[in-house]
Amino acid sequence: MRPLTMVGNWKMHGSLSANQAFLQELLAAPDLGKKPGRFALCVPYPYLAQVSQLLAHSPVVLGAQDISDHSHGAYTGEVSGQMLKEFGTRYVIVGHSERRAYHHETDDCVARKAKAALLNGITPIICVGETESERDAGQTLPVVRRQLQAVLDLLQNKIADCLIAYEPIWAIGTGRVASPHEAQDVHRELRLQLAKFDADAASKVAILYGGSLKPDNAKEMLAMPDIDGGLVGGASLVAKDFLALCAIDQ
Ligand code: PGA
Repeated sequence: MRPLTMVGNWKMHGSLSANQAFLQELLAAPDLGKKPGRFALCVPYPYLAQVSQLLAHSPVVLGAQDISDHSHGAYTGEVSGQMLKEFGTRYVIVGHSERRAYHHETDDCVARKAKAALLNGITPIICVGETESERDAGQTLPVVRRQLQAVLDLLQNKIADCLIAYEPIWAIGTGRVASPHEAQDVHRELRLQLAKFDADAASKVAILYGGSLKPDNAKEMLAMPDIDGGLVGGASLVAKDFLALCAIDQ
C-alpha cells in the first residue's frame, strides 16, 4: 500500500506574515501527523528559510517549485539543487504545466531537472498533463506517455525515487475537476508504462492527482486504486482545507 501523499503548491502566493499565520494554524491542529502519510508544502524560493524553520520537527516537510538543471555557474535567476538542499528542501516540483507554458520547459529539460533533484537527494514531483484541446482531440494518453517517457529515458531505474503528478491543465485553478474514473484511467496508464520499465518501481511510485482538488472532491478521487495523493494549489493556501486533505482516509 502506498502512503497518502499530499503536497501543497503555493505558486506565487504568500508573504512573511501570511506564511507565519498559515503555519501557526496548520501546526496547531491536533490531528496533523496522526495519520501515516507524506505531507509537504512547496513554497516560493524567498520563503524557504522562513518555512524551513517553522516546519522543523513537524510532520510536514519543505518543498520547492522548481530547480535548475545545472549544478552551478552563470545562470542568472536560477537556483541549484545544492542550494535547495541547504534549506532542508525534501521535494521539488518539476515540469509544472505553468513552467512548461510560460518558461518553455521541454520534456527533456524537465527530465534533466528531475535528475538534478535526485543528485541532491531531493525527491522530484514530475508533472504531466494535457491541455483542453489535446483532451478534446483524444490525445490525453499519448501526451502524458510522451512526457513520462522522456523522464524514464534519462532516469532509468532512478524513477523509483520520484513522484509523478497527473495534472490535466484544463482542471488547474479552474474549479473543473477531472472525474475520479477519468483520472484513474490516466493514472493506471502511467503505472502500466512504469511497469513496462520497472515492475518494482511501478508498485512503489506514488502518482498524485492535481487540478482543483478540494476537501469536498478529494475523498472520491483518493479512493481510486492508482491515485495516491494530491498536488494541491488553491486549497493549500487555506490551512483548514490543507488539513482536511491531509486527514482523508484513502
Ligand atoms: P489547483 O492547482 O489545485 O489550484 O487547481 C494545482 C496545481 O497547479 O498544482
